[in-house]
Amino acid sequence: MPVCDVVIVGAGAAGMMCAATAGQRGRKVVLIDHATKLAEKIRISGGGRCNFTNLDARPECYLSDNPHYVKSALARYTQHDFIKLMQKHGLGFHEKTLGQLFCDDGSQAIIDMLKAEVDAGGTLWRMGTAVLAVRQCEGGFEVETAAETWQCQSLVVASGGLSIPQIGATAWGYELAKQFGLSVLPTSAALVPLTFQPQDLWTELAGVALDDVEVSSGKGRFREAILLTHRGVSGPAILQISSYWQPGQPITINLLPDVDVAEWLANSSREAHLLTVLSEKLPRSFAQALITRWGQNLPLKQYSPKQLASLTPALQQWQMVPSGTVGYKKAEVTRGGVDTRGLDSKTMAARAVPGLYFIGEVVDVTGWLGGYNFQWAWSSGYAAGSAA
Ligand code: FDA
Repeated sequence: MPVCDVVIVGAGAAGMMCAATAGQRGRKVVLIDHATKLAEKIRISGGGRCNFTNLDARPECYLSDNPHYVKSALARYTQHDFIKLMQKHGLGFHEKTLGQLFCDDGSQAIIDMLKAEVDAGGTLWRMGTAVLAVRQCEGGFEVETAAETWQCQSLVVASGGLSIPQIGATAWGYELAKQFGLSVLPTSAALVPLTFQPQDLWTELAGVALDDVEVSSGKGRFREAILLTHRGVSGPAILQISSYWQPGQPITINLLPDVDVAEWLANSSREAHLLTVLSEKLPRSFAQALITRWGQNLPLKQYSPKQLASLTPALQQWQMVPSGTVGYKKAEVTRGGVDTRGLDSKTMAARAVPGLYFIGEVVDVTGWLGGYNFQWAWSSGYAAGSAA
């Protein structure tokens, strides 16, 4: 039986970072992935430009049942460490907005960089290889594939979450965690568009964007753009809030976050029609649809004070209960996963199973939109690669 120090299952963002780190420490590493194409999720990320980290990455930007878990790994391998790696490889990058860093040369350049780092550690690649079984044995694990069975001291699970099954996402990592007695928290699609009940749809406005709104639900609150769709609503602020939203809960949208609506209307011409006034601050088609739902388009002087006062909640506390999300097919990430309470936050190792590690998205750690999820993949991959 061939022997190595570390088997890593999943050659995505976290798996490659882990392989590079462990291999360059002198560990003999085998990197297994059932996909034939390397790191498809990195390739499609950030619209092909990979939003590879965020200048503002910090523990508060991550959701987990155990929020302190991310602290150690994020502190030991920071966004600046990944930037240094980019610079070492001569890769340019730019900040788009809100600290989000994108690769000037596109996502493939990041994949090539990580592949070069993995190769520098002498890792053996096993792409297009499914793992058939994992058994615990003396001193570690046996990892069986169709072609061979590896014996290793350390097994790192980097098989990702459930989003985008069409490019190879599987529940394998969760099943393996359960096989070894670890707890797996319920999973759901996150960073995902929300769907509305038929009566709440604004189908006639599909494609209309509102550039600066505040969306809140539960403990989440984000101020960015939203986009009306045929099925509900999307756009960055909605993707962000989807990670906080629980089925059955409302979301609240403030369409004019900085505006004192009462004062604005009081200072507007009494002769002006409501549509003209609302169109000063909202797309005209949206203002029109809003008025149709709210009442009539009249000169301001024809509304009673009570009617005008009711515009404030209509504009600033637009509330509805989404019917659901568009699901894993369109979700950027998976919320939930392997319960971090069973893992060591310094090494990512399972406390109860010596030599077993979980990194990246398979773990119950979900970052905000904007490069935070890759940063978690790099940081957790580095932590496990330094220990395994
Ligand atoms: P990842 O999914 O990268 O890798 C898992 C690997 O495991 C895959 O190669 C898969 O084939 C393999 N695998 C799965 N099951 C297996 C099995 N049974 N046997 C063998 N191998 C198996 N994040 C961000 O920070 N910035 C961004 O710009 C984007 N953009 C973005 C766009 C889109 C469309 C999506 C879907 C996602 C993003 N993300 C993102 C999220 C980001 O891609 C994600 O968080 C990381 O890729 C997670 O890294 P992992 O290594 O954990 O999983």
